[in-house]
Amino acid sequence: MAKFIVEKSGPLHGTVEISGSKNAVLPILAATLLTEERCIIKDVPGLRDVDVMCDLLTALGATVEKDLYNNRVEVESPGEIHYEAPFDLVKKMRASILVLGALLLRTGRAVIHLPGGCAIGERPIELHLKGLKALGATIDEEQLAKGIVDAKADELHGATIYLDFPSVGATEVIIMAASLAKGTTVLENAAQEPEIVDLANYLNKMGAKIKGAGTDTIKIEGVEKLKSVSHHVIPDRIEAGTFMVCAAITKGDILIKNMVPSHLKAVIAKLRECGVDIETTEDGVRVRGNLNPLVSTDVKTLPYPGFPTDMQSPFMALLTVAKGPSVVIETVFENRFMHVAEFNRMGAGIRTEGKCAIIPGDKQLKGAPVIATDLRAGAAVVLIGLVAEGQTEVSQIYHIDRGYEKFVDKLKALGANITRVDD
Ligand code: EPZ
Repeated sequence: MAKFIVEKSGPLHGTVEISGSKNAVLPILAATLLTEERCIIKDVPGLRDVDVMCDLLTALGATVEKDLYNNRVEVESPGEIHYEAPFDLVKKMRASILVLGALLLRTGRAVIHLPGGCAIGERPIELHLKGLKALGATIDEEQLAKGIVDAKADELHGATIYLDFPSVGATEVIIMAASLAKGTTVLENAAQEPEIVDLANYLNKMGAKIKGAGTDTIKIEGVEKLKSVSHHVIPDRIEAGTFMVCAAITKGDILIKNMVPSHLKAVIAKLRECGVDIETTEDGVRVRGNLNPLVSTDVKTLPYPGFPTDMQSPFMALLTVAKGPSVVIETVFENRFMHVAEFNRMGAGIRTEGKCAIIPGDKQLKGAPVIATDLRAGAAVVLIGLVAEGQTEVSQIYHIDRGYEKFVDKLKALGANITRVDD
């Protein structure tokens, strides 16, 4: 029942430090099961999803030392581990499916409930399973019809796999499974996100032989064994993008530390089209929304290096106050406009038609009680709350806790008028 109370806050100013990436650390934590030796992961963000992944690893038999005060997690799983992932954890976080490949390699079997759909879409995993089958696994179709993945394999072998869609999750599961398979795997039309590159770098440090991560063709030469490793997770590009929009929408001036500008090329290009000034300095990236009037632009989400779907709702928040109409096209998820109804409670006047949203722009918005319908939509309504007249009350903020570390503290440090009200 916790909620955020957001009041209209003038231009945000100051410095914000970006945390480690949620979408990089989750597959990396899952990959710790690929060795019996100790793995040390650093710059781990203090997030609900990280807690769930650590609970899942513990339930599977790993020893997990979680020190999120120092953003550090150590995992070790010597000897036998369990092959079944508990449903009560899987249902809390879709990314639990990322342990599939590792469980199969460690135990010869993996039993995990289908994660099911969520607010933004059906989220099927047929590409993950197709990839594992190509590597030699068998999937119990009867169990699958009941919503349970029951995969078996005495041994996995290399294969050439073409992904019908460059799915991030399928690419990560196949890379993990192929890293200890007999022979060579070639993964074509692979996802190219920076989180894939971070996972491959992490596995290569463990002794894997992965080439081409970050391109659409990844070659994985299976090895006998992977060893212990210590790894720093990359910064969270979506958190960085969200704070860039913060500077733009409040006409503020924010220095963003610990972000990788090359991970956000599409977002930076679109912000510049809106008139936002972005300068990379030795201290970080300076974002100024106070130099030029904010103007509209059109956005189409695509797999990386296209415009990230996770930035769609925060960016749409910006377009609600930009001068002139904009069109946003969502091509990655089939149901990722749930935030539009919440924006319209605040007077945004947005219309949607299938994959398109038409934003009239130039609106003076009014605070209202709104819901965080998913993680990114939650951050987006907070951004609008910072410029809307009056008070905005955001509920279902557990969504936001899943993916933004110390969100309220970071915003407050920049001058935002936001409070968290816990029941
Ligand atoms: C990852 O999800 C991210 N999550 C998502 O971030 C992100 O939105 C998404 O990639 C796209 O960038 C994590 O990394 C934990 P996909 P994932 O498989 O792996 C369809 C956030 O806000 N598809 O690339 O689940 C699927 O339904 C979250 O941090 C199939 O049809 O994404 C979707 O429409 C939200 N069949 C599209 O592909 C499959 O077998 C992209 O999914 C697999 C996917």
